[in-house]
Amino acid sequence: MTTEVDPKGTWPDILPGPLATPSPEFAHRRESGPLEPATMPSGDSVPVAVRYEDVRALLASSTCSRNLRLPGLPRLVSGIGIDDDPDALINQDPPEHTRYRRIMQGTFTPRQVEPWRPRIAKIAQELLDGLGDDFDLVQGYALQLPGRVICEMLGVPLDHYEQFVRWTDMFLTTSTANEQARYEGYTDFMAYAADLVAQHRAEPGGDLIDLLIQARDEDDRLSEGELVNTVFALITAGHETTASMIARGVFRLLLHSGQWAELVADPPLTATAVEEILRFDGPPASAFMRRITKDTDVPSGSLSAGTVVMPNLNAANHDPQAFPEPGRFDIHRFTDHPPNPHVAFGYGAHRCLAASLARVELTEAIRALVTQRPTLRLTASPESVTWTDGLVLRPVAMPVTVRG
Ligand code: HEM
Repeated sequence: MTTEVDPKGTWPDILPGPLATPSPEFAHRRESGPLEPATMPSGDSVPVAVRYEDVRALLASSTCSRNLRLPGLPRLVSGIGIDDDPDALINQDPPEHTRYRRIMQGTFTPRQVEPWRPRIAKIAQELLDGLGDDFDLVQGYALQLPGRVICEMLGVPLDHYEQFVRWTDMFLTTSTANEQARYEGYTDFMAYAADLVAQHRAEPGGDLIDLLIQARDEDDRLSEGELVNTVFALITAGHETTASMIARGVFRLLLHSGQWAELVADPPLTATAVEEILRFDGPPASAFMRRITKDTDVPSGSLSAGTVVMPNLNAANHDPQAFPEPGRFDIHRFTDHPPNPHVAFGYGAHRCLAASLARVELTEAIRALVTQRPTLRLTASPESVTWTDGLVLRPVAMPVTVRG
């Protein structure tokens, strides 16, 4: 039976495979059209890179720009979207990107993130303590954990959390019908982020927002627009992407009950299992599109100046040239003979700023489940799980039980 991924198809030419596995189209494309166009959620068509080497070459290339704010260019989504914000880190090119990123980088190093590990484990424990034997792993756990972590890190009161979830949901939806809602979600959220920055300026503390306000690169600091945007970006990126990876990772592990049992018997294995989860199921949205500024050669062909291209990270992570038997989910893949690094966090200058935080969250979320809910299993058939149709692919709900 095929997966219940919404047939409307956010990416109609590259629909996910059964049980939200990568699109079977990727394999065909890798063979016969590694840079063939596909339809974006906006309806625009752009070449999609599906081979590991091409994706890495594009993401590392100085001729691939993130400035898509020129008239007439293809859009990822219709209406206002992530590509439109001139202040977002992800939309900068060097040298602005280099400066902006250097200022932010210090706040997400493993050294900054590691002290949060016990607190993240505690939040996971608190969430599980509040759930009964039967619960929805998505709403009750996966969505809650990263939201709480990023709120605590930033110094955002938890009573605003539900509001964030609504704004983020609106912003990440892709359907045209929701264009207005997306715009409102975006502007409300931005206004809220501006308020938060103003509050922290008036009453400085030791939260991440305060660090960002103080952070500087020589005499240079983040501008007001960049600060507000950063708070917005950290809340949106820090919440839904990680939540989706937790949900997708647990779903995949529960489908492979032998591997789940191995984690129960040996919880420290979780950290390497997380790498395979990231490879197999990540990222839940692809990389962002790039505009080619000068004719560019990649291993599979040439892209001419002016082309807008989509490097597909999930396709790259399933390229058999980089990962033998890519369709085999194997939590030992990254232990025994470490393969090529996966690109779930991207590659090159825009590689995920908070990869170390995401890794800690994923590891602690799964470790808490295998140690405290070892008998966890799905109560619905895997095929009946429905999937979101926005930019980020995850189960809408995932009913589970710990009863034998
Ligand atoms: C498992 C969870 C996550 C995954 C799979 C993920 C994936 C990615 C990917 C693929 C990119 C690069 C996109 C591109 O080059 O087009 C990226 C960039 C970024 N991510 Fe993450 N991310 C995750 C969690 C987070 C978290 C928790 C935060 C913040 C708290 C975050 C903040 C960012 C930021 C700010 C960028 C832009 C970096 C830049 O432009 O230099 N991400 N992420």
